Amino acid sequence: MNTTPLAVSRNYFRHRAANQWHKTPAEPGEPGAIRPFLAGNWKMNLVPRSGVALAARIFDICKGVKDVDIGLAPPYTGLSALADYIKPDFLRSEYDLGRNVFLMAQDTFFESKGAYTGEISPEMLAAIGVDRVIIGHSDRRANLGKFFGFSSSVARRLTPDFLTHELDALRKREGVDPQVFAAIEFMAAEQNHEILAGLAKFLEEDLKERAGESDAVTQRKVHASLAQGLQVILCCGENREARALHETFKLLDRQIRIGLEGVSPKTVNEMIIAYEPVWAIGSGAKAAGVEQISEVHDFIRNLVMDLYGEETASVIRILYGGNVNPENIADIMSIAGVDGALVGGASLKAHDFAQIIRFGCLIRDRHSDL
Ligand code: PGA
Repeated sequence: MNTTPLAVSRNYFRHRAANQWHKTPAEPGEPGAIRPFLAGNWKMNLVPRSGVALAARIFDICKGVKDVDIGLAPPYTGLSALADYIKPDFLRSEYDLGRNVFLMAQDTFFESKGAYTGEISPEMLAAIGVDRVIIGHSDRRANLGKFFGFSSSVARRLTPDFLTHELDALRKREGVDPQVFAAIEFMAAEQNHEILAGLAKFLEEDLKERAGESDAVTQRKVHASLAQGLQVILCCGENREARALHETFKLLDRQIRIGLEGVSPKTVNEMIIAYEPVWAIGSGAKAAGVEQISEVHDFIRNLVMDLYGEETASVIRILYGGNVNPENIADIMSIAGVDGALVGGASLKAHDFAQIIRFGCLIRDRHSDL
């Protein structure tokens, strides 16, 4: 494992200079110092019993770690079993952990009850002891869209060949609406091929994202969760295309502005933002670079400052997510604007996730050596 954590100073007060945020000194655990938050998102993995077993192994390696917040997000089916297991008294006596372990849900619905087959409401989560909820994860915003959306299948039909073939079929039919016929003929005409290609691209790429969870849906989920006293981890992040087109900040601005709209200055303190570039998530991808993360976290903090003022911006926690692992956690946590990590794949391996959590201990050990 990289030994750089020893060079990381753990101080989480910030001041703003030239649109950049710097940490100012605060001892670990000092009142007011921002607590690092290391959260594991298990996604659609582990039956309840395996989730509890994994949590036990993680806690065992993290005995006595009190200066960081630990979050575990099993799938819905694992929440109750884990809620029963992570009772503070038990964690204290068994693992010397305090109230720094948080049960998280991976998503929620925005209505409290009703005919919404398959959905789970914030009330239901709160009732079984869930503390925090992830909202707007890119799996929901975009990745799942390709399963539920219709846009790709429509886009595939928007080729001159397909349309010409359709026209032939329509010609043989009786009673076809002439307007429909004219429209298809227009689209299939050679001089309109570029328009057709543009439309297909729009459907294929842009609407695919919107076929997933929209910013507006995310916003409703944020409000519904906060109303139940759940802390919200609002995810944002650009996909590969947006980065290539230099539209990262525009997209993040939209996602965060809409996600936070209507959240009062008081309640925004119950929120955590997670920056997760979609291109950096999952196996086969590579974590974003330190410069990239630093730049975006500064951007987000400045946006929060525009919306809520400097005080809120200086304390709101902003996590990074996307291929965080024991090797890169120290470098990532040493970035001034990073207050923790949302971890996918590595959180399914007890040793790896424990190493990620214990990055804070390494820093504390360094302080006690001084
Ligand atoms: P990853 O996932 O750590 O497996 O890249 C991160 C996430 O999706 O939250």
